[in-house]
Amino acid sequence: MSMDGVLRLYFGESNLPTPDYIKQAAVQALADGYTFYSENAGLPSLRRALAGYYGRLHGVELDPATEIVVTASGVQALNMAIRCVLDPGDEALCLTPAWPNGAAMVAMDNAVPLEMPQPLVGERYEIDFEALEAAVTPRTRLLLYASPSNPLGWTATDEEQDRLLEFARRRGLWLIADEVYERLWYAGERLGEPAPSILRKATRDDAVIVTQSFSKTYCMTGWRLGWLVARADVAAKAGPLNEFVVSHAASFVQKAAETALAEGEDELLRMLERLKENRDLCLETLRAMPGVTVPQPDGAFYLFPRIAGLTDSFELCRRLLLEHRVGLAPGVAFGAGGEGSVRICYAAERSILEPALERLETFLRAG
Ligand SMILES: Cc1ncc(COP(=O)(O)O)c(C=O)c1O
Repeated sequence: MSMDGVLRLYFGESNLPTPDYIKQAAVQALADGYTFYSENAGLPSLRRALAGYYGRLHGVELDPATEIVVTASGVQALNMAIRCVLDPGDEALCLTPAWPNGAAMVAMDNAVPLEMPQPLVGERYEIDFEALEAAVTPRTRLLLYASPSNPLGWTATDEEQDRLLEFARRRGLWLIADEVYERLWYAGERLGEPAPSILRKATRDDAVIVTQSFSKTYCMTGWRLGWLVARADVAAKAGPLNEFVVSHAASFVQKAAETALAEGEDELLRMLERLKENRDLCLETLRAMPGVTVPQPDGAFYLFPRIAGLTDSFELCRRLLLEHRVGLAPGVAFGAGGEGSVRICYAAERSILEPALERLETFLRAG
């Protein structure tokens, strides 16, 4: 962090600032007096807006009063969801390579995370359902995954969602789907379509929880606002549990988020166009490099190239940083299946991406 002149592609966020219309809405909310304590489960008006969002984008009807809980970030939504469904000693199957926080939260609840690597089959990451079946024990309670995924960009297909749901139902497991990258999806009929939420398939009685965030879609990482959608009995616990964790997400931030939901589509589309161009540029450049295999990701803003013969991604990233001033995230940081790859966040300007890739190529060619 303290080194000068580093081309930084290790972050998990876009370098775009929060759009002005959202900042203005926060200023207005402060002026309007949204500076007091408010409901543990979130402002009713924001929960109604979120129910509208699911109706509009997914054709899913939710009861804002009993099935949606606003949280102070996606991290907190995940923390809350995991905490609500696991007892000490329980086991959770976590699809990896993954952003490591989910497995860490399982461990923080004195439960046991089991990393279940997603195999790269040809040009696509898949789910090893046989391995999942074999890993279930009487203590298994949860299957946790993110779609679109960080770091893979993998997005569950329709069939994979059916199988995940069928597996969870049959084995009596909770399914937590982290969908924070839902709006950063490039495989729809038109740009701007969300990656299909598992909620399209789940019934409201299913043991399914979706965790979400304003961070990625609206460039609001520092604002700390997210939400979860859960079966009503769990949501009824998650709201009051908030009281003892953060009480509630900041009131004026919630108000600004309502504006983001109502007015954000044009700005989001502009960002998606730029991200898709960046993704394609990086894919083309990486694929021309020696020993690099990189599947085309459908979502999020990461590429996870595999580098032939790489056995120590941490050391590769350390050398790349010290010798070429390029910062990437080592694949080993993302758990089982991550070693041998690096993560590149392409939500950066061309003036950073292009020289960074050139330096990576020079580095790889030198061996
Ligand atoms: C898969 C995934 N889930 C959740 C989050 C958390 O987002 P936030 O806490 O900023 O809402 C991140 C952030 O990088 C992420 O990659």
